[in-house]
Amino acid sequence: MTTKKKASNSKPRRFVVRNSGIHGKGVFALTRIPAGTRLIEYKGERLTEKQVDRRYAKDDSPHTFLFALDDGMVIDATYGGSSARWINHSCAPNCEAVDDEDRIYIETLRAIRPGEELSYDYGIELEERHTPAMKRYYECRCGARRCRGTILSDKRKK
Ligand SMILES: C[S@@+](CC[C@H](N)C(=O)[O-])C[C@H]1O[C@@H](n2cnc3c(N)ncnc32)[C@H](O)[C@@H]1O
Ligand SMILES: [Zn+2]
Repeated sequence: MTTKKKASNSKPRRFVVRNSGIHGKGVFALTRIPAGTRLIEYKGERLTEKQVDRRYAKDDSPHTFLFALDDGMVIDATYGGSSARWINHSCAPNCEAVDDEDRIYIETLRAIRPGEELSYDYGIELEERHTPAMKRYYECRCGARRCRGTILSDKRKK
Protein backbone atom coordinates (compact mmCIF):
# COMPACT_ATOMS: atom_id res chain seq x y z
CA MET A 1 0.00 0.00 0.00
CA THR A 2 1.30 3.47 -0.83
CA THR A 3 0.74 6.46 1.45
CA LYS A 4 0.42 9.92 0.09
CA LYS A 5 2.13 12.77 1.90
CA LYS A 6 -0.29 15.50 2.89
CA ALA A 7 0.44 18.70 1.01
CA SER A 8 1.21 21.57 3.35
CA ASN A 9 -0.03 25.06 2.44
CA SER A 10 1.53 26.66 5.50
CA LYS A 11 4.32 29.14 4.80
CA PRO A 12 7.72 28.43 6.37
CA ARG A 13 8.17 30.29 9.65
CA ARG A 14 10.03 33.55 9.17
CA PHE A 15 11.11 34.07 12.78
CA VAL A 16 11.46 32.30 16.11
CA VAL A 17 11.61 33.31 19.80
CA ARG A 18 14.82 32.35 21.60
CA ASN A 19 17.33 33.65 24.13
CA SER A 20 18.86 36.98 23.23
CA GLY A 21 22.24 38.56 24.03
CA ILE A 22 20.46 41.89 24.49
CA HIS A 23 17.94 40.86 27.14
CA GLY A 24 15.97 37.71 28.10
CA LYS A 25 14.20 36.35 25.07
CA GLY A 26 14.25 37.95 21.63
CA VAL A 27 12.91 37.25 18.14
CA PHE A 28 15.26 36.03 15.41
CA ALA A 29 14.84 35.74 11.66
CA LEU A 30 14.84 32.20 10.24
CA THR A 31 14.79 33.26 6.60
CA ARG A 32 15.81 36.30 4.58
CA ILE A 33 13.08 38.88 5.05
CA PRO A 34 12.79 41.73 2.53
CA ALA A 35 12.55 45.39 3.54
CA GLY A 36 9.02 46.67 4.08
CA THR A 37 7.58 43.32 5.21
CA ARG A 38 4.73 43.39 7.71
CA LEU A 39 5.75 40.63 10.13
CA ILE A 40 3.33 40.49 13.01
CA GLU A 41 0.74 42.45 14.97
CA TYR A 42 1.55 43.62 18.52
CA LYS A 43 -1.47 42.02 20.20
CA GLY A 44 -2.74 42.21 23.74
CA GLU A 45 -5.30 43.74 26.03
CA ARG A 46 -6.22 47.39 25.45
CA LEU A 47 -6.08 49.30 28.71
CA THR A 48 -6.28 52.92 29.79
CA GLU A 49 -3.23 54.44 31.48
CA LYS A 50 -5.16 54.36 34.77
CA GLN A 51 -5.82 50.63 34.43
CA VAL A 52 -2.12 50.08 33.69
CA ASP A 53 -1.11 52.16 36.72
CA ARG A 54 -3.45 50.14 38.93
CA ARG A 55 -2.27 46.81 37.52
CA TYR A 56 1.43 47.58 37.92
CA ALA A 57 1.33 49.86 41.00
CA LYS A 58 3.53 47.48 42.98
CA ASP A 59 5.88 46.69 40.10
CA ASP A 60 9.14 48.62 40.28
CA SER A 61 10.95 46.92 37.39
CA PRO A 62 11.59 48.64 34.04
CA HIS A 63 10.55 45.37 32.37
CA THR A 64 7.12 45.49 30.71
CA PHE A 65 5.07 44.06 27.87
CA LEU A 66 3.35 47.42 27.40
CA PHE A 67 3.01 49.36 24.14
CA ALA A 68 1.76 52.94 24.52
CA LEU A 69 -0.52 54.24 21.75
CA ASP A 70 -0.77 57.88 20.64
CA ASP A 71 -4.38 58.14 21.88
CA GLY A 72 -3.35 57.40 25.48
CA MET A 73 -4.43 53.76 25.42
CA VAL A 74 -1.90 51.01 26.12
CA ILE A 75 -1.61 47.49 24.71
CA ASP A 76 -0.64 45.06 27.47
CA ALA A 77 0.76 41.92 25.83
CA THR A 78 1.14 40.09 29.15
CA TYR A 79 -2.14 38.29 28.47
CA GLY A 80 -3.14 37.31 24.93
CA GLY A 81 0.00 38.83 23.44
CA SER A 82 1.66 37.63 20.24
CA SER A 83 5.36 36.84 19.75
CA ALA A 84 5.84 40.56 19.00
CA ARG A 85 6.07 41.07 22.76
CA TRP A 86 9.48 39.38 22.75
CA ILE A 87 11.04 41.81 20.26
CA ASN A 88 13.80 43.79 21.98
CA HIS A 89 14.68 47.45 21.56
CA SER A 90 17.66 48.61 19.51
CA CYS A 91 19.04 52.09 18.93
CA ALA A 92 19.88 50.90 15.37
CA PRO A 93 16.70 48.90 14.69
CA ASN A 94 15.93 46.74 11.67
CA CYS A 95 12.15 47.00 12.21
CA GLU A 96 9.63 49.65 13.17
CA ALA A 97 6.26 49.65 14.88
CA VAL A 98 3.59 50.98 12.52
CA ASP A 99 0.17 52.24 13.59
CA ASP A 100 -2.45 51.18 11.03
CA GLU A 101 -5.98 52.17 12.05
CA ASP A 102 -5.20 51.82 15.75
CA ARG A 103 -3.53 48.46 15.38
CA ILE A 104 0.23 48.11 15.76
CA TYR A 105 2.27 46.04 13.32
CA ILE A 106 6.00 45.30 13.29
CA GLU A 107 7.49 45.90 9.84
CA THR A 108 11.04 45.52 8.56
CA LEU A 109 12.98 48.72 7.79
CA ARG A 110 15.56 46.91 5.67
CA ALA A 111 16.31 43.40 4.41
CA ILE A 112 17.10 41.04 7.29
CA ARG A 113 19.42 38.03 7.11
CA PRO A 114 18.62 34.64 8.69
CA GLY A 115 19.86 34.62 12.31
CA GLU A 116 19.57 38.39 12.83
CA GLU A 117 17.68 39.52 15.89
CA LEU A 118 14.60 41.62 15.11
CA SER A 119 14.38 44.95 16.92
CA TYR A 120 12.59 48.26 16.91
CA ASP A 121 13.21 51.53 18.71
CA TYR A 122 10.91 51.57 21.76
CA GLY A 123 11.40 55.35 22.08
CA ILE A 124 9.68 55.27 25.47
CA GLU A 125 8.48 58.68 26.68
CA LEU A 126 7.91 59.03 30.40
CA GLU A 127 5.57 61.57 32.00
CA GLU A 128 8.50 62.70 34.08
CA ARG A 129 11.83 64.18 32.93
CA HIS A 130 14.33 61.84 31.35
CA THR A 131 16.96 62.51 33.98
CA PRO A 132 20.34 60.73 33.85
CA ALA A 133 19.07 58.51 36.69
CA MET A 134 15.96 57.50 34.70
CA LYS A 135 18.09 56.84 31.64
CA ARG A 136 20.30 54.55 33.71
CA TYR A 137 17.22 52.81 35.13
CA TYR A 138 16.04 52.19 31.54
CA GLU A 139 19.55 51.21 30.43
CA CYS A 140 19.95 49.92 26.86
CA ARG A 141 22.11 46.93 26.10
CA CYS A 142 21.48 46.78 22.33
CA GLY A 143 25.22 46.93 21.55
CA ALA A 144 24.76 49.23 18.53
CA ARG A 145 27.75 51.43 17.66
CA ARG A 146 25.61 54.48 18.28
CA CYS A 147 23.67 53.09 21.23
CA ARG A 148 22.18 56.04 23.16
CA GLY A 149 22.50 54.10 26.41
CA THR A 150 18.80 54.07 27.23
CA ILE A 151 15.59 52.61 25.82
CA LEU A 152 13.92 55.97 26.58
CA SER A 153 13.22 58.35 23.72
CA ASP A 154 15.89 60.97 23.08
CA LYS A 155 13.22 63.64 22.46
CA ARG A 156 13.28 64.83 26.05
CA LYS A 157 16.89 65.45 26.90
CA LYS A 158 16.55 67.23 30.27
C1 LIG B 1 8.61 43.56 25.53
S1 LIG B 1 9.91 42.99 26.52
C2 LIG B 1 11.01 42.28 25.33
C3 LIG B 1 11.33 40.85 25.65
C4 LIG B 1 12.32 40.68 26.77
N1 LIG B 1 13.66 40.47 26.23
C5 LIG B 1 11.95 39.53 27.66
O1 LIG B 1 12.61 38.49 27.68
O2 LIG B 1 10.92 39.63 28.37
C6 LIG B 1 10.54 44.55 26.89
C7 LIG B 1 11.55 44.58 27.99
O3 LIG B 1 12.75 43.92 27.61
C8 LIG B 1 13.87 44.63 28.09
N2 LIG B 1 14.66 45.13 26.95
C9 LIG B 1 14.26 45.18 25.67
N3 LIG B 1 15.20 45.71 24.88
C10 LIG B 1 16.24 46.02 25.69
C11 LIG B 1 17.52 46.62 25.47
N4 LIG B 1 17.93 47.02 24.27
N5 LIG B 1 18.33 46.80 26.55
C12 LIG B 1 17.93 46.41 27.78
N6 LIG B 1 16.73 45.83 28.06
C13 LIG B 1 15.89 45.64 27.03
C14 LIG B 1 13.34 45.77 28.95
O4 LIG B 1 13.25 45.32 30.29
C15 LIG B 1 11.96 46.00 28.37
O5 LIG B 1 11.05 46.56 29.27
ZN1 LIG C 1 20.96 50.97 22.49
